[in-house]
Amino acid sequence: MNSVTSNILNTLLGRAGFVSGGELCGELGITRSAVWKHVARLRASGYAIEAVSGRGYRLAGTTGAPVFEEVRPLLDTERFGRNFIYLESTGSTNLHARTIARDGAPEGSVVVADSQTGGRGRMGRPWASPPGVNLYASVVLRPPVPPVRVPEIPLLAAAAIHTALSQECPSLQPCIKWPNDLLCGGRKLCGILCEMESEPDCTHFVVAGFGVNVNIDAFPEELQGIATSIVLETGAESSRARILASVLNCFERMYGDWLAADDLTPVLPHLERHAWLQGKEVRIEQYGRTLSGTVAGLSPQGHLLLKGEEGAVTAVNSGEAHLRSVNDQNRQA
Ligand code: BTN
Repeated sequence: MNSVTSNILNTLLGRAGFVSGGELCGELGITRSAVWKHVARLRASGYAIEAVSGRGYRLAGTTGAPVFEEVRPLLDTERFGRNFIYLESTGSTNLHARTIARDGAPEGSVVVADSQTGGRGRMGRPWASPPGVNLYASVVLRPPVPPVRVPEIPLLAAAAIHTALSQECPSLQPCIKWPNDLLCGGRKLCGILCEMESEPDCTHFVVAGFGVNVNIDAFPEELQGIATSIVLETGAESSRARILASVLNCFERMYGDWLAADDLTPVLPHLERHAWLQGKEVRIEQYGRTLSGTVAGLSPQGHLLLKGEEGAVTAVNSGEAHLRSVNDQNRQA
């Protein structure tokens, strides 16, 4: 969206009633026919704009697209989302965020895209990123903490996104799956991918990327049964702009509390209350080894506490958790 179109949208978003064509011309220093042309562009992008002769223009409906014009009025942050890059399409918002972070982008900078051509998940997996339906966003963080604390960030982001989704969609009851997924009914609603650049004792920056399945109502065959979306769970479409603003509001607040603490203590009760794995028999796949046991909780550092058959508890710091099937358990016996 060019800056004049964006200014018109900002003015209409800020006004409940009509804005006269003359006022828009005066404010933006353009002619009436230019105003009309920009209004036509906004309509083509999906904004319902009424035009009534003698009264002017009125925004009758937004698109809910995660563009700055729609997100900004909903932000109550100081830094998160104040530097905001919206892209119609990009390879991966995480990669774009990493590039701007290397170039000095301030903490809280956000890169959001309507679609990704190379969306990335954990363990090098792809992240399906079709246009017009979901949220794909990455936040640049510059936490003044040693790299050893960085693995806490995916859980922090999970707590923030969980809080935001629960506020925006009260009928949704997502769970947090250690270490960085949100599920509904055992199906994936949101994935989080945190990547960092550091020296052994100094964190340069972290990119916290998240993909939320919002309004997608059908998944490709390979994701059927394992993925879900807000619209599939609630039956109602949601504004991606509202969800993004709410995530940024919650994330900034929780990030501040986390920085002031030595570990995840401020969000631990939230993480434990909504933990999907709690009490379940699991198998944890780590690079090169597999651990199994019953999930007994979470440590303040975000390690999964796994109780083995002998009763000893191991703190697991990373890995991919799978529920143990009856077959798995028989194999062990
Ligand atoms: C996972 O569950 O494996 C993590 C998925 C993370 C996907 C998001 S979408 C926005 C950001 N950009 C990416 O390329 N990946 C993350």
